[in-house]
Amino acid sequence: MCGIVGYLGKKEACSLIMEGLKALEYRGYDSSGIALLNNSELNIYKKKGKVNDLEKSLTGKDLSGSIGIGHTRWATHGKATDQNAHPHDSGSGNLAIIHNGIIENYKVLKEELTSRGHLFKSDTDSEVLVHLIEEIKIENACPLEKAVQQALLRVEGAYAIIVMSKDDPEKLVAARKGSPLAIGFSQDQYFIASDILAMGGVVDRVIYLEDEEIAVCRSEKDIKIKTIEDIPVTPHIESLDSSIDIRDKMGYDHYMLKEIFEQPKSIEDCLRGRLNLKENEINLSSIDQHMDKFLNVRRIIIISCGTSWHAGLVGEYLFEKYAKISVEVEYASEFRYRDPIINKDDIVIAISQSGETADTLAALSMAKEAGAFTFGICNVVGSSIDRVTDAGLHTRAGAEIGVASTKAFTTQITVLSLMALKLAIEKNLINCEDRQLFLAELGELPNTVAKAMDCKLLTETIAEKLLHAQDILYLGRNINFPIALEGALKMKELSYIHAEGYPAAEMKHGPIALLDQDLPVVVIANNKENRSKIISNIQEVKSRNAQVIAITHEGDNSLNDLCDYVIPVPDVPDFLSPFVSVIPLQFLSYHLAHKLGKDVDQPRNLAKSVTVE
Ligand code: M6R
Repeated sequence: MCGIVGYLGKKEACSLIMEGLKALEYRGYDSSGIALLNNSELNIYKKKGKVNDLEKSLTGKDLSGSIGIGHTRWATHGKATDQNAHPHDSGSGNLAIIHNGIIENYKVLKEELTSRGHLFKSDTDSEVLVHLIEEIKIENACPLEKAVQQALLRVEGAYAIIVMSKDDPEKLVAARKGSPLAIGFSQDQYFIASDILAMGGVVDRVIYLEDEEIAVCRSEKDIKIKTIEDIPVTPHIESLDSSIDIRDKMGYDHYMLKEIFEQPKSIEDCLRGRLNLKENEINLSSIDQHMDKFLNVRRIIIISCGTSWHAGLVGEYLFEKYAKISVEVEYASEFRYRDPIINKDDIVIAISQSGETADTLAALSMAKEAGAFTFGICNVVGSSIDRVTDAGLHTRAGAEIGVASTKAFTTQITVLSLMALKLAIEKNLINCEDRQLFLAELGELPNTVAKAMDCKLLTETIAEKLLHAQDILYLGRNINFPIALEGALKMKELSYIHAEGYPAAEMKHGPIALLDQDLPVVVIANNKENRSKIISNIQEVKSRNAQVIAITHEGDNSLNDLCDYVIPVPDVPDFLSPFVSVIPLQFLSYHLAHKLGKDVDQPRNLAKSVTVE
């Protein structure tokens, strides 16, 4: 959470930083701020609200300077106010800092500094750090980077920081531990940010800082990177395609809508080079390289959060049914604090869009400590999870900016389908006919998902009828139970309507008491296995007068008389049914939220990447 940006070069820093902040707003959007250095003049402007509010407040201000830092906040310590917004300056006003993360021992540090006369203007942990840096800098008469290094040795917690100083107006010092930080650069400029998305065509090369590394960026000088223990580091430089503007909404009203419609293309990208229909094979080199481990594994543990956890549940069904591997799917946040039993011969799969989710990372490091083989399924290339796992597969969804996950989810389950089928083939668990059929259907998936988009208009009509709903129940069975959970999560986070996903058969054990004419129930009924059972569940709901919105496959008219609304989706084999049943649920929550006037791309209290626990 929180997005940070720093610029050092020859151009006016303000507009570049503001553009960068807009691109990072998905990481936090309760307040923002900017600090600009010009001829040893340090100007800091901060504002509660969105980056647009900050932008409006800048009219008439001195915005000159070709070095600066900016921050968009998701509050952890201290409410969303102008005062608590970043950047924070040191007591003397000589230094400014932006910070993403949590300084866990900030209270102890603050008490110490207060006892030595430091006065604080905000309630944040970050302000404590800049005071500490300044104190060390003055006491040791040392350069900024040395002071930052010394201060970080005293810090417990997570940080991505950028610091600048009036005394050294041609330098930015950046460091990270647990929160992402990328240092972009081209011939005569640096652009540092939490995510390369912010760099929008400004620079053409990038270095991803590793944990406990400090980078010193100076005008017209090469970057210097060291560990906070002072060991020099030779950075790995990657090139950036600066021609693509991933922030373009391409004419859609919202990123979420654009991303829903991008799913056929993302799935196609995800399958490319992996699904070989000519040879009737699945090529996944990262599985091939570790095939022994996968063939002999007794248990896979999947760790993830939110939507990625739902993808894990779909994966559990696929691995168990087709590859006959026992799977446990864990909320990373629970797993890490539960003294879980992790065996050396377990495979631990972390699923994460951002690759930066703090709980997933922490659970992963427990798995590594226990000696398990770790595998990442991430969207963001170069992210922390991507880098710390032993092997992995990228989902290739492309940048997902809407806070609600859509194409990240469908590409995660694409990867899981490929993995499960590959292992099933490898283990000879699938006959020739099924193999051909399943792979052909996988190959058709981009077209199938494109066809599923036809339900957009119908979901908009249904959303109109749900405007006054207080609660919505989502029911699904089998591989579509996780889709019920996902539908409910989308509804909650976007429209702020309480929604719950439930296994359809579990309804009788409690939630049935909720049923009356005011409770809409969404039933996912497009799987063929246990179909009669889901129809019985619909009947149970209808006999208690609740409204039923059912998702079923095209050509099935059996539910028309029973349900209030029927949403047809393409007819696919059961293992692919989540791909088509999730689409109407994404649209339904999108339309309802939009009609209720909610901020679809940036729902309240949320952030795209949850880098704090
Ligand atoms: O980046 P990750 O996939 O690790 O993020 C996990 C969750 O925070 C994320 O899926 C969240 O639940 C989404 N906002 C749901 O739409």
